[in-house]
Amino acid sequence: MAAAPELDRPTLAALIALVRKHTGITMGEHKRNLLERRLRPRMDALALSGYRAYLDRVEQDSDEVPHFIDLVTTNDTLFFRTPQIWAYLEQEFLPQWWSEHRGKRLDIWSAAAASGEELYSLAMLCEEFHAKHPAFRYRIVGTDISRQMLDLARSGCYSGRSVQRLREAYPARLANYFQPSPQGCMQVNDTLRKNIELRCHNLLHPLQPQQQFDLVLLRNVLIYFDLAHQHTVLEQARRSMAHHAVMIIGESESISRLDTAYTLARPMIYQMKAVAS
Ligand SMILES: C[S@@+](CC[C@H](N)C(=O)[O-])C[C@H]1O[C@@H](n2cnc3c(N)ncnc32)[C@H](O)[C@@H]1O
Repeated sequence: MAAAPELDRPTLAALIALVRKHTGITMGEHKRNLLERRLRPRMDALALSGYRAYLDRVEQDSDEVPHFIDLVTTNDTLFFRTPQIWAYLEQEFLPQWWSEHRGKRLDIWSAAAASGEELYSLAMLCEEFHAKHPAFRYRIVGTDISRQMLDLARSGCYSGRSVQRLREAYPARLANYFQPSPQGCMQVNDTLRKNIELRCHNLLHPLQPQQQFDLVLLRNVLIYFDLAHQHTVLEQARRSMAHHAVMIIGESESISRLDTAYTLARPMIYQMKAVAS
């Protein structure tokens, strides 16, 4: 086996700058091993001589950029990740929203949807609410910067720890909304898919077309940005939120150091600040 090519310091710095340019993600030099581990197989597949050659390829060939983005983003997710959020959505948010907006459609944005577990968890809650309130309607937009993740979300095909989590914690939901597929995974059924739309989107840019969402899940993505980019992402998200909207972030995230349009309602849950008239 050929010896691993060296990721020298100038190339590491240039790769870190390229990650920031294409994703907004801030990486320090301590991410050297992560970058080596993730980029090496791609470099080998393209028969490139080293990291500098791969860097040049990404800079010169725009078709390589989506692959680069897929490799440098971290896409961990789970169905019903952080159970207290899902209890809040099911027991408080949905009944309250329905009592205040009967007759309207609930618009939800899963803003860093990764492979889609968050989207389909939302759809399961909405379907269950719809079963109790037949006039309830909803639509969920899922976005991510990684095309590979969006393809996975679109396939709705899950295995491994994603399915294990459902089997252990929510067996009735696994039985109700999934079926075994010939590929050997568990596939979401059409009931869950019908109100979902997926789009590739960079959170640092305005979401197009503009929409006024009632609920935005921006979970476990802010941690990858520095304060300036967190501010930009939150400001872009605000433009796509109705004045009564609720935004939820991840459990290891905080936006308290930033001056934003959001006010903390309880841990992880934010509301838009009332605008002074
Ligand atoms: C750790 S996952 C979070 C998934 C899910 N929200 C959750 O909490 O389980 C972070 C996701 O953010 C996406 N991401 C990173 N930078 C992004 C950007 N600038 N715009 C949009 N999505 C981005 C990654 O591709 C990845 O799928």
